[in-house]
Amino acid sequence: MALRGKRVLLIIGGGIAAYKALDLIRRLKERGAKVRAILTRGGTEFVTPLSVGALTEDTVYGELFNLTDEAAMGHIQLSRDADLIVVAPATADLMAKMAGGIANDLATTALLATDKPVLLAPSMNVRMWEHKATQRNLTMLQADGIHVVGPNEGDMACGEFGFGRMAEPLEIVAAVESIVQIPGPLAGTRALVTAGPTHEPLDPVRYLANRSSGKQGYAIAEALARLGAETTLVAGPTRLEDPLGLEILHVETAQQMLAACESALPADVAIFAAAVADWRADARANTKIKKSGTDAPALKLVQNPDILATIAGLDGTQRPKLVVGFAAETDNVIENATQKRTRKGCDWLVANDVSDGTGIMGGDENEVHLITASGAEHWPRTRKTDVAARLATMVATHLKGAAA
Ligand code: CTP
Repeated sequence: MALRGKRVLLIIGGGIAAYKALDLIRRLKERGAKVRAILTRGGTEFVTPLSVGALTEDTVYGELFNLTDEAAMGHIQLSRDADLIVVAPATADLMAKMAGGIANDLATTALLATDKPVLLAPSMNVRMWEHKATQRNLTMLQADGIHVVGPNEGDMACGEFGFGRMAEPLEIVAAVESIVQIPGPLAGTRALVTAGPTHEPLDPVRYLANRSSGKQGYAIAEALARLGAETTLVAGPTRLEDPLGLEILHVETAQQMLAACESALPADVAIFAAAVADWRADARANTKIKKSGTDAPALKLVQNPDILATIAGLDGTQRPKLVVGFAAETDNVIENATQKRTRKGCDWLVANDVSDGTGIMGGDENEVHLITASGAEHWPRTRKTDVAARLATMVATHLKGAAA
């Protein structure tokens, strides 16, 4: 509930992307925000006041000179009552009026009357977006301190391709959160998380890999970011979408993963959830290895650097205050993991049983044992996102205790 109690005034302009504003209302409310909407005259051509009102569960404001509304809730009051104004879609026309200080309807009047942060999600045809007038208005609005998210590049409803698509609702939510977020318990801290497998190339077409999906590590990075940590996620190859609200460094091999982790330091907490390949080919062939007769080629492997042990072994201020490892075990889970914690030099170790049949590697659920200096704690099987949230909360409590 990152936006609990925050009041968002959403201005819906007249553009085809107005339909995405309906989803945006839901996403903002899911996070605890209260949303009140102004639907411009153009906006009503694309979505109805009824659908907007059903989602905001509030009056939908439209005309400036509506005597009943003006008496109950004037344009000044509307902007005063909000913590943030979001304009989505922000049309070229609305941007031009804002840049010129024009106030000739309720939306533009509320925008001129506000001293609250304003976020625009522009949406228009690529030629309109690239037009000198729009770019000039954009520069002026940004200089005035107006926040802007998007537009994105892609296919447009008008059949053209380019910049002009409105940012997706979740991208707009992330921008809202970064503007008005209530500071979480990890605000002011830095976190580093590794996730996914590594791919160790044998030749241009083949590689060594493992079954890791990256889901657990991604969920942990998102949970830490949600609590306010400035988070860097170092991810091996996965099929997952890049999470919003954190920095993500994509790597392929263990050696690249180590270099990326080192570049992300200093960090207060580092969590190593990646299933790093223990070995790589001694020499990567530059051309495809060919069959020769019936003999299979002998692979010569060398050991990869141990990223967790390397970072946990750093001295002094270089070492994150809290280093958390993972252990993928198939037998004697607690015993092996307890030894692994000491051997790797980490503070906590999250051990999971990845034997055949558990469905944990690659699945959406996990069952873990948290090993610390004081023993092992069993966390019953639950979603990986729940494991992540619980771990992130423990990290916050620990770092607060360490700082006190
Ligand atoms: N790890 C790492 N770098 C490596 C190997 C592992 O950072 N080269 C990290 C993993 O991210 C995990 C922890 O070390 O946090 C343990 O990984 P695991 O595969 O269980 O341990 P291994 O060191 O590979 O030990 P073994 O395969 O002998 O069980």
